[in-house]
Amino acid sequence: MTIDLAVIGGTGVYALGELADVETHQPVTPYGAPSGPVRVGQYAGRRVAFLARHGEGHSLPPHRINYRANLAALKALGAQRVLALNTVGGITEGYGPRVLACPDQLIDYTWGRISTFCEEPGSEVLHVDFGDPYTLALRQAVLRAAARAGVSVVDGGCYGATQGPRLETRAEVARMRRDGCDLVGMTGMPEAGLARELGLDYACLAIVANWAAGAGPDVDEVITLQDVLDNVAAAMAGVPPLLRSLLAK
Ligand code: HPA
Repeated sequence: MTIDLAVIGGTGVYALGELADVETHQPVTPYGAPSGPVRVGQYAGRRVAFLARHGEGHSLPPHRINYRANLAALKALGAQRVLALNTVGGITEGYGPRVLACPDQLIDYTWGRISTFCEEPGSEVLHVDFGDPYTLALRQAVLRAAARAGVSVVDGGCYGATQGPRLETRAEVARMRRDGCDLVGMTGMPEAGLARELGLDYACLAIVANWAAGAGPDVDEVITLQDVLDNVAAAMAGVPPLLRSLLAK
């Protein structure tokens, strides 16, 4: 049976509260096991899959996530559209804490992660087009759904994906700003590239948890986990109405 939407939850998002009649799948893929169970259920009358990217108990740091298994599992369950929720730091004006944003570009600063399905000997060599890393139609659907639901979502922006798990230095964030990044997170890649290789529709809804190091009005601010979790929880209030609107027939 097909799935109308798959949602991948990031830091602070370990379940979809409104998911009903939940079936739990523990898929094993040719790439290994995903981060945890895939919960499939009814959401706003549609079939929705949810997967916690870091595991439901947040046991996986960004560089240890099996991004290939996560996406392959969602595809095997019948998902075509994937909405990735990514908790991020904000770099530029307009992307401060508690903002929701739907970026349209990304820069990959990660290293040493398996970033392609062309890894195994004998696998087909793919050079997928990635000029626009997020699927325009899905981005537009998300933005329209947010507008209908009265949820503010910033349209566009560049997501810089860093290796982590440590946060960035001020100099790194300053460089990212010069590069054109508006947001910084640790999980946007290789996920987006792998989704493209699988032919999935993929968009990111970034949840700004904090100003990145040295960004924002108080350049000396120290980022605490509690601030991150509080800001994510506050920004997440917009997500259920947005999802209901996105799924409305
Ligand atoms: N940097 C990278 N990833 C993040 C941040 C940050 O400041 N905040 C939440 N995820």
